[in-house]
Amino acid sequence: MKNILITGGAGFIGSHVIRLFVNKYPNYKIVNLDALTYAGNLENLTDIDQASNYVFEKVNILDADALKTVFTKHNITDVIHLAAESHVDRSILSPMDFVYTNIVGTVNLLNTAKDFWKEDLTKHLFYHVSTDEVYGALGETGLFTETTSYSPNSPYSASKAASDHFVRAYAETYHLQTVISNCSNNYGPFHFPEKLIPLFINNIINKKPLPVYGDGLYTRDWLFVKDHALAIDLVFHQGKLNDTYNIGGFNEWKNIDLVKLLCTQMDEKLGRQKGESEQLITYIKDRPGHDRRYAIDAIKINTELGWKPTVTFEQGLAQTIDWYLQNTEWLNNVTSGNYAKYYENMYDGR
Ligand code: NAD
Ligand code: TYD
Repeated sequence: MKNILITGGAGFIGSHVIRLFVNKYPNYKIVNLDALTYAGNLENLTDIDQASNYVFEKVNILDADALKTVFTKHNITDVIHLAAESHVDRSILSPMDFVYTNIVGTVNLLNTAKDFWKEDLTKHLFYHVSTDEVYGALGETGLFTETTSYSPNSPYSASKAASDHFVRAYAETYHLQTVISNCSNNYGPFHFPEKLIPLFINNIINKKPLPVYGDGLYTRDWLFVKDHALAIDLVFHQGKLNDTYNIGGFNEWKNIDLVKLLCTQMDEKLGRQKGESEQLITYIKDRPGHDRRYAIDAIKINTELGWKPTVTFEQGLAQTIDWYLQNTEWLNNVTSGNYAKYYENMYDGR
């Protein structure tokens, strides 16, 4: 019997982790703690929110008193920490939001867990979900391994790197039992349309320009979000204590090639002429400090825990496009309100 606190469960990846755990582990109590920022959306969880083993707590991880109350109320035994500010472009505009949530918020959570579990730390696990962006940028060759040194380049990746270091320090100094995973770029249903794939799907639907940064030759290693959730499940239950696992799809794409594949698949599904959506591609001013290439070596999680992706990129992308085409109400809801202002601020005149 476990009472697991999952933070950021109303966000993109968190909602998939919550769904997996609520359905797969009826004997666990799953407590979703989320502040519901612009990126948090309870509509991501309507299929499981009535389950008897699921509870939602609207709490900000910056509020240490409220964290303590939640730990006590639900007798929390373990943490899977996903709550974060997650978008690189926003981190360039507002770095302090990232310092507060990703660094201070993580340390608040570490303190709360350490104090609440102090009777016997060996019975509990603090699992910190992180990103491959902490390793910085790769050149044309090579892969990030678990021993690659940290070299973050954006305020986002610097704040995630700092949070990883705090988790590691709490394991060394206070003997908190921890595990960290560093994953590559995710895509899939419920992805907020500020990130490349859902933003471009939304723009293709609406026949709006597709804003490709710089020369479009930047490379990312894409993983279907449900495969990330499955990896988190494995690392949580079987990962070596105080260790790190890299998670990735062995699936590198240059942005422009990915965008062209997306255009082709969407033209087919929307019954548009071949090549129609590609005409929307517009090169715009580059992102400052833009990391050239990310790519993960996922051999360790494969050999130690037997994890590998279950879908190919073409399958995952097709499922993702179908989901967005079938869930226009979700898409309309998240792109109403402040979204237009964000878009104008980020893209107009660039
Ligand atoms: P997201 O932005 O979709 O969701 C973040 C969630 O955290 C939201 O529900 C938001 O309301 C919540 N949140 C933000 N600040 C909070 C605060 N102060 N207190 C409580 N809740 C707060 O992010 P995501 O893409 O689902 O990413 C989840 C985690 O996975 C992050 O830690 C991110 O760094 C990591 N990660 C993401 C990717 C990716 O490709 N998206 C890849 C690797 C790792
Ligand atoms: P993004 O989805 O923001 O993820 P990250 O920056 O964390 O990897 O961006 C993925 C890639 O797509 C990255 O190289 C930046 C690029 N990009 C664009 O070219 N245009 C856009 O409008 C966005 C949001 C991203």
